[in-house]
Amino acid sequence: MSTLPDSVPEVVVRRARVTDAPRIKALIDIYAPEILLEKTLVNIYEGLTEFWVAETEGLVVGCGAVHVLWADLAELRTLATDPAYRGRGIGGTLSRGLAEEAARLGVTRLFVLTFEVTFFSALGFRTIGELDLGAEAMAELRSSYDRGVAEFLELPYVKPNTLGNTRMLKVL
Ligand SMILES: CC(C)(COP(=O)(O)OP(=O)(O)OC[C@H]1O[C@@H](n2cnc3c(N)ncnc32)[C@H](O)[C@@H]1OP(=O)(O)O)[C@@H](O)C(=O)NCCC(=O)NCCS
Repeated sequence: MSTLPDSVPEVVVRRARVTDAPRIKALIDIYAPEILLEKTLVNIYEGLTEFWVAETEGLVVGCGAVHVLWADLAELRTLATDPAYRGRGIGGTLSRGLAEEAARLGVTRLFVLTFEVTFFSALGFRTIGELDLGAEAMAELRSSYDRGVAEFLELPYVKPNTLGNTRMLKVL
């Protein structure tokens, strides 16, 4: 009797579609609000073009987004792997895909606010302090309604959310 070799199911990283939104919300809800910023379904539909998903055997098992902050800077955000699929390279594959997307959009630096310092270090991110983009950009960013931008700026009203997180940056 011949035995088939063990096969590792293929993981496809692709842009999110509207039908993925409820599953993306479910993935985020596993980690929000302590580890990830909460997202309502409308937040996800509004930001859908920023989202990518990892799919294996017909199931979306990971998600992540790239959000442009300014001319030379984007944020990798809302990266989540289904706990049953962690440690299999899905988060890494998604992160590399999001970095490629950021580079394609034309930014040269990718920011992340995270507890997962070892994971992002292995992907080429380095811990940073404050990132001053210049007076004009900082003033415009302060006028943004995006909560992730408020966290990037460490505005007082989101301070409890950012406690314990590390600011990291990858040059693309
Ligand atoms: C961070 C996160 C997305 C990583 O997802 P993941 O799918 O487990 O990521 P990977 O499998 O690519 O890598 C995780 C670890 O497993 C290891 N690994 C990767 N492939 C592996 C494999 N085939 N076998 C064993 N280990 C493996 C990696 O080396 C990595 O180790 P490290 O963290 O010490 O660097 C996941 O932990 C998560 O959803 N966390 C909560 C949300 C969060 O913190 N997001 C980041 C801020 S936006």
